[in-house]
Amino acid sequence: MSYFEKIQKTTLKEEPIIMAIETSCDETAVAIVKNGREILADEIISSATEHAKFGGVVPEIASRTHTTAILTATENALKSAKLTLDDIDAFAVTEGAGLLGALLVGVSFAKSLAFSLDKPLVPVSHIKGHISAAYLADKSLEPPFITILASGGHTAIVAVEDYYNINVLGSTIDDAVGEAFDKVARVLGLSYPGGPNVEKLAKDGQNVISLPKMLKNYDGGEYDFSYSGLKTAVINYVHTQESKGLEVKKEDVAASFQHSAIDVLIEKAIKAAEQFNYKTIAISGGVGANGYLREALKKAAESKGFKLILPEKRYCTDNAAMIGAEGYLQYKKRNFADLTLNAKAVVPLK
Ligand code: KG4
Ligand code: ZN
Repeated sequence: MSYFEKIQKTTLKEEPIIMAIETSCDETAVAIVKNGREILADEIISSATEHAKFGGVVPEIASRTHTTAILTATENALKSAKLTLDDIDAFAVTEGAGLLGALLVGVSFAKSLAFSLDKPLVPVSHIKGHISAAYLADKSLEPPFITILASGGHTAIVAVEDYYNINVLGSTIDDAVGEAFDKVARVLGLSYPGGPNVEKLAKDGQNVISLPKMLKNYDGGEYDFSYSGLKTAVINYVHTQESKGLEVKKEDVAASFQHSAIDVLIEKAIKAAEQFNYKTIAISGGVGANGYLREALKKAAESKGFKLILPEKRYCTDNAAMIGAEGYLQYKKRNFADLTLNAKAVVPLK
């Protein structure tokens, strides 16, 4: 009997223990999650400092670091959960979206574990993983809810209808919000990763520079975003000031940009929850770690009576626990892959 034939006969565990592997970008992450909600181990080895020298992620360095870090991360995860590989019921892995070479390390590693132990291999979408981090933050959370998906590659207001169906109410028509943070960081001379550094600088600044309100003349979807104009406005402001020999108060630029970039996310999420009668709002993706977003959303949600799900900052940025949370849902549906599973640079958001 082939591996896949055996796997299809697997009896599902009531409370499965899933090892989750995430290598889509510059974090080599391995987590062990019980029942989709309880984190038994959560290891992250980041190569961010390596990339910082180059001002952004260098795919080749990311892939190479994954190959050396993945075994250590796995051993550390098992050790901290006090488990052995025999205790693992399934292996979930990010199949995409992300850097192909980086993803391939995780996919090949998960495949070999699943194959050698005759356990299911569960492919997971990175973005669905970000959304499912909400289930780790509130163990009793059930859909429906609205989530603000704000990462380096995506910006969207998403209605999570049930565990398996999402409805994208609107998304960015150009840059993602995290991408805008990263580009503004570069203009301000801040190092990679840009988002946290812009946030840090903004703490000493004021929202005093007038930047364009987004999508002023755009007649598309009510929940869509555009970050390209805001980014250009920041670049133009800095260049104009410099060419006139005027001071650029970088702290104020950072604070003003942060307000413009974040306020619109909050406005649209609240509006969507009100219009479609959702009671709960969550955040997902790396920008969800932004302190200003967290504070402002908390205030806005509380004043309107919405329940707020704020995953810990560590579970907003890339991690493997979120892949375990989403992997659990896919496991329950028996969405198992065979050994032809391949990495995907792009996975549609649906
Ligand atoms: O979700 P994530 O870790 O990776 C992707 O799937 O893209 O998101 C990374 C993005 C980067 O653009 C990074 O600059 C941004 O999230 N980010 C932040 C903060 N932490 C990470 N942006 C603003 N403030 C932060 N504290
Ligand atoms: Zn991510």
